Amino acid sequence: MPPVITIDGPAASGKSSIARRVARRLGCTFVGTGNMYRAFTWAVLNRGIDPNDPAAIVAALPSITFECPVSDGETHVRLDGHDLTPDELNSDAVNAAVSLVARVPEVRARLVADQRSLISLGPLVMEGRDIGSVVFPDSPFKIYIDASEEVRAARRRAQGQADNLAERDRIDKQRKSSPLVIPEGATIIDNSAVTLEEAVEQVIAALRAQGLP
Ligand code: CDP
Ligand code: CDP
Repeated sequence: MPPVITIDGPAASGKSSIARRVARRLGCTFVGTGNMYRAFTWAVLNRGIDPNDPAAIVAALPSITFECPVSDGETHVRLDGHDLTPDELNSDAVNAAVSLVARVPEVRARLVADQRSLISLGPLVMEGRDIGSVVFPDSPFKIYIDASEEVRAARRRAQGQADNLAERDRIDKQRKSSPLVIPEGATIIDNSAVTLEEAVEQVIAALRAQGLP
């Protein structure tokens, strides 16, 4: 099986920026799984479904078609034949609802199956909340990216987004189905006080220490 580098951590910690750069450096395909949960949330909202109604979300799942085409070394999300834009994926409405949709076990089961199937693409850097704990728990290459609450809130504000990070983290950590945890065997990298480039160097050094050739 090709190697999978798993990168997990809380909201706005720098995961996707760091993971994308690590993937480029190592010649792996980058997979951001947050965008998959965001895409399903967009579908739920677009169908007029209340994100607090898990039964209605589960009932809608068979009608949702979802693909992950690859371009520029990373997977993208195509939902019901529509390539979702960053503005659609990161809208205030999606930010407010995504943790509610992501806590539904049937949504997770569907997306985890898709995420595992991406191994057919070859070596991966996959980023999310449960990649090292649930999606690829046997991977020897696991990183947990963290940053202080103040730094994370400031980074998200600088991106110009209204996003209640603390509430999203609370739901993500407390849900019953694959909550956000530090995966067993993961190296924790706190990047509160370092640049993106420095964080990338630290992640690559940690992966080498974990035995990455
Ligand atoms: O970019 P940010 O860290 O704010 O969020 P994201 O990675 O785009 O993830 C959005 C939401 O999707 C998270 O708050 C989780 O509720 C959910 N998610 C998840 O449950 N499991 C994953 N593997 C990835 C994201
Ligand atoms: O994927 P996640 O939500 O964890 O975070 P991100 O979207 O990669 O990073 C949030 C913002 O923080 C982006 O604008 C990054 O460029 C920035 N960032 C930074 O300035 N310094 C770091 N060491 C890490 C991230």
